[in-house]
Amino acid sequence: MELDTNLIYCGDNLEVMAKFPEKSVDLIYADPPFFSNKQYEIIWGNGAEMKVYEDRWKGGINVYIQWMAERLWQCYRVLKDTGSMYLHCDWHASHRLRVAMDEIFDERHFQNEIIWSYRTGGATKTRFARKHDNILFYSKSEKHTFNPQYVPYVMGGILEDERGLYQIQKGKRVNFNQRGALMPDVWEIPYIGSVARERLGYPTQKPEILLKRILEASSNKDDIVLDPFGGCGTTLVVARQLGRKWIGIDVSPIACSLMNTRLNKVGASDVRIIGAPKTIKELKQLEPFQFQNWVIARIGGVLSTRKSSDMGIDGYTFMAKGPVQVKQSEGVGRNVVDNFETAIRREHKTTGYIVAFSFTKSAYEEAARAKLEGNLDIKLVRVNEMDNYF
Ligand SMILES: C[S@@+](CC[C@H](N)C(=O)[O-])C[C@H]1O[C@@H](n2cnc3c(N)ncnc32)[C@H](O)[C@@H]1O
Repeated sequence: MELDTNLIYCGDNLEVMAKFPEKSVDLIYADPPFFSNKQYEIIWGNGAEMKVYEDRWKGGINVYIQWMAERLWQCYRVLKDTGSMYLHCDWHASHRLRVAMDEIFDERHFQNEIIWSYRTGGATKTRFARKHDNILFYSKSEKHTFNPQYVPYVMGGILEDERGLYQIQKGKRVNFNQRGALMPDVWEIPYIGSVARERLGYPTQKPEILLKRILEASSNKDDIVLDPFGGCGTTLVVARQLGRKWIGIDVSPIACSLMNTRLNKVGASDVRIIGAPKTIKELKQLEPFQFQNWVIARIGGVLSTRKSSDMGIDGYTFMAKGPVQVKQSEGVGRNVVDNFETAIRREHKTTGYIVAFSFTKSAYEEAARAKLEGNLDIKLVRVNEMDNYF
C-alpha cells in the first residue's frame, strides 16, 4: 500500500500512524509536548488567548515516557530503512527520551544530539540560564540519507583566488571547501521574535530555518516527510518549499486549521484535512477547550479575552460582535440562559448566542421571556444547526 501524502490528519498520532504501512516515510521531525508542566495558549492579534494544548502529566515523567514510547515505536515502524528521525525536546525529559530512543532505534543508530542555542527566555541567579533545546537525531539503519551541510569558516587567515579558498600552512597551499566548514552539532538560531514575519502566535512555533536545515540534511526532493506533532505546520511549509512530500498530524482542530491556512499561503491550495471532527459523537469526545475552539473557528468568530470569558462569554461573532457561549452538553437549561442574559447586558449588547447539542423546554421559555420582557435576543443554537445562524 502506498502512503497518501500532502495531507493533514486531525487526531491522535498514535492511532493515525498505526494505519500507515511500515517503512513508508523518509524523515520524521517530532516536536512533542516537552513535559514542561505548562498549559500552552495561542495569542491572537486581538490579544485574545485560547488554550491550545496541555503539557501536564498526572503520574509524572514515567507516564509521559510511556506515552511517548508508544508513539516513538510507531515512528520507528513507519520509517524506511534509509530514514531518520529528529526528536525535539529540552532539559525536562531529554535524558529519558534519549534512553527510550536508544532502546527503540538501537543506540548504534544514534547520530547526534543537536543543541539548538538561542538567547530568549528568562534567567535566574541560582543556576546558569537555560538557553538551548536538544534535538535527538537517530537513523533507522547504517545506510541513511545524509546530505552534509556547511557553515561559513570562522577562522581568520583564509584567502581566496580564482582556484578557491586556501591558506598557506608551513609554506604550502592548503585548499578549503568552497561551501564552508562542515556543520557542527551546535546550532545558533534565534527563537522567532515577537514581531517576526513568520510568527503566528502559536506557542512553541519553531523557526523555519531550523527545519530547513534538518530537511535538507536528511531528505531529498520528493521524499516523504512526516510531522506527527504538527502544531502550526512549520515542517509542512518548509517541506513544501523544498519540494518534499509531506504529512502532518495534530490532535488539535485549531492547529490543523492553522496548518491549512499556512500551507495555502505558500501556494498549496488543495490541502486535505482528514479526521477533523464532524459527527456529534466525535464532537462530544473532544476536550472541552478543543470543542470551544472548534465552535468559534467554525463560525468564523473571534475568541474572548480572558476577562470576558470569566463572565461566561467564550467568543464573539465576527462582524456583528455578538457574544457567544459554548456548552459541550445536551439539555442545556434555564439557568444557563439566565446567567448569559446578565453577561450580555454587562457587554451592552442586545443579541447573543448559546451553542450546545440541545436545550430543555425551559431554556427556550426563558429565551422567549428575555425577548419579550427584556428586549434581549438570545438565540439557542444546536450544533447541527449552526450553519443556519452564522
Ligand atoms: C510543541 S507543539 C509543535 C509545534 C510545531 N513544531 C510548530 O512549529 O508549530 C506540539 C503539538 O503536539 C500536539 N499534540 C499533542 N498530543 C498529540 C497527539 N497525541 N497527537 C497529535 N498531536 C498531538 C499539540 O496539539 C501541539 O500542537
